[in-house]
Amino acid sequence: MDSFTWNKIIAGVLCALLIIKIGDITSQQIIHVEKLSKPSFIIDVAEVQTSSDDIQPTGPADITPLLINANIANGEKLFKKCMQCHTPNKSGMHKVGPNLWNIVMQDYAIQDGYAYSSALTNLKGQKKWTTDNLNKFLYKPTQFIKGTKMLFVGLKKDQDRADIIAYLNQQSDSPVKLP
Ligand code: HEC
Repeated sequence: MDSFTWNKIIAGVLCALLIIKIGDITSQQIIHVEKLSKPSFIIDVAEVQTSSDDIQPTGPADITPLLINANIANGEKLFKKCMQCHTPNKSGMHKVGPNLWNIVMQDYAIQDGYAYSSALTNLKGQKKWTTDNLNKFLYKPTQFIKGTKMLFVGLKKDQDRADIIAYLNQQSDSPVKLP
């Protein structure tokens, strides 16, 4: 190829680049995006509640299915957390909290010789320690019974509560059938 042909090729390439550039500039000037002052269409949906109350779990999960295969031995181990304040055995002494022998399905606040809070005595005769009530109480005592003097953070793991309730059920002359 002679130099003339090369010149033609180079001129062609430059020309093409120039045309592309011009096209680019003019397109930017021609098409300029304007923000719409109003949305062009409105989707009508029912208002969705997004308050934080709805997102946060309001209580513990139902542990009934977990009671079927609850691990009593693990419940006994977990009960160490309660031993600071409770004894689990028959005629065990009251500590900071009452003795818990025979607690499952028993009425609230009936242990002789223990001074319950008024929050708990007010419920005496009205409620029983069903597995459901124990589940909710042990999840967060102060939330389930406002004013209780059981100042314990609670057991947040569902299976832990199931295991401990299954263990407590054994601390009785006549354990109930679970679940
Ligand atoms: C820091 C001490 C403390 C710990 C730890 C504690 N409790 Fe209690 N518990 C109490 C007190 C105090 C009461 C009495 C509450 C009242 O009168 O309001 C109580 C009451 C109870 C009751 C109601 C008894 C009744 O006769 O009505 C149950 C059930 C119970 N506790 C279970 C447990 C279990 C299970 C654990 C361990 C997971 C535990 N508690 C850990 C202090 C404690």
